[in-house]
Amino acid sequence: MDRIFIFDTTLRDGEQAPGASMTAEQKYEIALQLSRLGIDIIEAGFPVSSPQQFKACELIAKNLKEPVITALARTVEKDIDAAAEALSRAENSRIHTFIATSPIHMRYKLNKEPDEVIEMAVNAVKYARNKVQQVEFSAEDASRSNLDFLCRIFEKVIDAGATIINIPDTVGYSIPAEIGNIISTIRNNVPNIDKAIISIHCHNDLGLAVANTLAAIENGARQAEVTVNGMGERAGNAALEELIMALEVRKDRMPFTTGINTTQIYNASRLVSNITGFEIPKNKPIVGDNAFAHESGIHQDGVLKNRATYEIITPASIGRGAGTNIVLGRHSGLHGFKSRVSELGFNLSEEECKNVYKKFLYIADRKKEIYDEDLMALIIDALGMSDPIYKLEYFSIISGNKAVPTATIKIRHNDEVVTEAATGDGPVDAIFKAIERAMNITTKLEEYKVQAITPGKQAMGEVKVLVTANGHKAAGRGSSTDILEASANAYVSALNKLLLLKGNNQ
Ligand code: KIV
Ligand code: ZN
Repeated sequence: MDRIFIFDTTLRDGEQAPGASMTAEQKYEIALQLSRLGIDIIEAGFPVSSPQQFKACELIAKNLKEPVITALARTVEKDIDAAAEALSRAENSRIHTFIATSPIHMRYKLNKEPDEVIEMAVNAVKYARNKVQQVEFSAEDASRSNLDFLCRIFEKVIDAGATIINIPDTVGYSIPAEIGNIISTIRNNVPNIDKAIISIHCHNDLGLAVANTLAAIENGARQAEVTVNGMGERAGNAALEELIMALEVRKDRMPFTTGINTTQIYNASRLVSNITGFEIPKNKPIVGDNAFAHESGIHQDGVLKNRATYEIITPASIGRGAGTNIVLGRHSGLHGFKSRVSELGFNLSEEECKNVYKKFLYIADRKKEIYDEDLMALIIDALGMSDPIYKLEYFSIISGNKAVPTATIKIRHNDEVVTEAATGDGPVDAIFKAIERAMNITTKLEEYKVQAITPGKQAMGEVKVLVTANGHKAAGRGSSTDILEASANAYVSALNKLLLLKGNNQ
């Protein structure tokens, strides 16, 4: 069976979804999970675009030995230099360079003639090839490009040293038969195509990203570019979990193998959703809450007699447990705690583990039963903010139907503790205003969501916020048995991210 290489771009194209920006440490945690999942190539970011992106690529490249780590670069030397530097400590490195090839992009965006575009692509590949082990070239907006021109540019970049050529359906415009035709035309008309792997990269504007990716594979593509939960620009990219399970379940029609360990899919999906604040719709294939739920009596009856009557995939095959597991209580020791953390797929440092354990004990005092979901929430709160710029140390609220809601907070910034107070329309408004004062930043609150993570009156609450300031967007989350505390933590974490995005991390 032919092997399909899985290229995950959650940390690059996925992060381009508005509000999905992640800290370098959060990206690293996702990269670890991608590696456990068996991803062949991890696109860690676009190093020239910001110091955070550079740092994330460097951190991932330095620490992850097995997958190929790739970084994006336009076909210009400064981008390629930044990518090469960020990847310099990687065991297996690839530069992914791209330029647009469609008439509309060449004319209006680049203001370049087709021959100039070819020259830029060839020069970039030659410039990159001695800096890393592999060079991938993408023809942006390939699916709306002239096919003869595509064949010409691919032949030239392969001659220049590219060993992977990528066909992006950048605006999600194509339908499967078209994509199949593009791939087979390239296979049959690019004379040196045997020296390169054909890759496919589909966006989901018409809901066809996975179908188009499958059509490409059936016509000879051997690398598929995907994101966890289908995150990405606009309607997102081809969803990793959908593509992998389609290949798995329909091996009879599509005899291809991948290196993916499907039992890590569910953890990867939840981790990405929790870190980015992007919720998974209930009816999302494979990973949505309802993907294995049977409501109608006829279906339930069938499933009880034989699950295969209405289920084509077992929850276990994607690492999804039978239900909510009660895991630990306040008497659980650090040892049992650590092993549960690693069973859940997290790889925390000794210090991170001790910090989360402390929080766990604090929650365990207020709540009898701690579920996997509670534990994941605590871990994810701690991830990537191990060294936050501002840290909430204390808060107190006065509120009531006859009182003016007033919040007092203490926030630590380096060695200084700032105390601020504010009144607001409600307790949450008062807390957020006090935090803004202490952190000296004003934002627009775009979204505020609160939900219970687990069942029962003692449930932990999870708060997600999305804020904007000066054109930057950042999501934050917090969890606690007290939703006001969860709100405060979510807000501080979003504002910390905004400060990082603005490059103000003093
Ligand atoms: O969609 C696209 O065209 C891209 C390229 C940079 C590969 O993401
Ligand atoms: Zn893309």
